[in-house]
Amino acid sequence: MIGITESPEGVALALVQFIVQRAASSTDHRLCRVALSGGSTPRRLYEMLARPPWRDQVDWARIEVFWSDERCVPPDDPASNYRMAREALLEQVPIHPAHIHRILGELPPDEAAAAYERTLRKVFRGRAPRFDILLLGMGVDGHTASLFPGTPAIHETMRWVAATEAPTAPHARITLTPVALSHAVDAYVLVTGAEKADMVRTIFKGPRDPDRYPAQLLIDSAYWIMDEAAAARFREP
Ligand code: 6PG
Repeated sequence: MIGITESPEGVALALVQFIVQRAASSTDHRLCRVALSGGSTPRRLYEMLARPPWRDQVDWARIEVFWSDERCVPPDDPASNYRMAREALLEQVPIHPAHIHRILGELPPDEAAAAYERTLRKVFRGRAPRFDILLLGMGVDGHTASLFPGTPAIHETMRWVAATEAPTAPHARITLTPVALSHAVDAYVLVTGAEKADMVRTIFKGPRDPDRYPAQLLIDSAYWIMDEAAAARFREP
């Protein structure tokens, strides 16, 4: 499931429309649970969602937010995924504070991972973590969330959350595991920029090796929304 837009703005607009539709479609008036991605790609999406006309089309009282991963830094650290989402979206819309489930990056990593796992298992009542919307990105090295190549968390089969290490600072990270990524109702991988074109081709046309290319875990289970630059080599024979 792949969508290609002309520009990064097109990726953001496509996702905003998906989110507004999904948030409106939960007919039983239960909460719509959204796991936010970190990094820089989704910032424009969050900013768009936080402003008219899209902001006014969401019943924010029914939105509950989580994160796909977090850096092990305090919430006001410039590297914090929570801080980026707070500034771009959460401070602009009336989400109930109890519906914002921040990963406690200021704790020791194993404690942060255990606390987030407890939160998720309580929210999902011990059943599968079925996020209504799961947002993810992809790094130039093929990582997604904070599942980095060659790391043990890629092979986690029981836990929903793991503490892990990134090759780039901040090195300590907290991430959803493949178990948690696999149950989403709608998962979206947002990829923009020419620097990712080679890895996009490898993910879809290269050897299947999720340990080396963790984003391959999402080939069949997610909608990949990319701009032309990131998809430039996708169409090559
Ligand atoms: C993070 C993200 C990470 C991100 C990719 C893409 O904490 O950095 O969760 O998985 O989505 O690295 O990052 P960009 O959007 O900045 O290219």
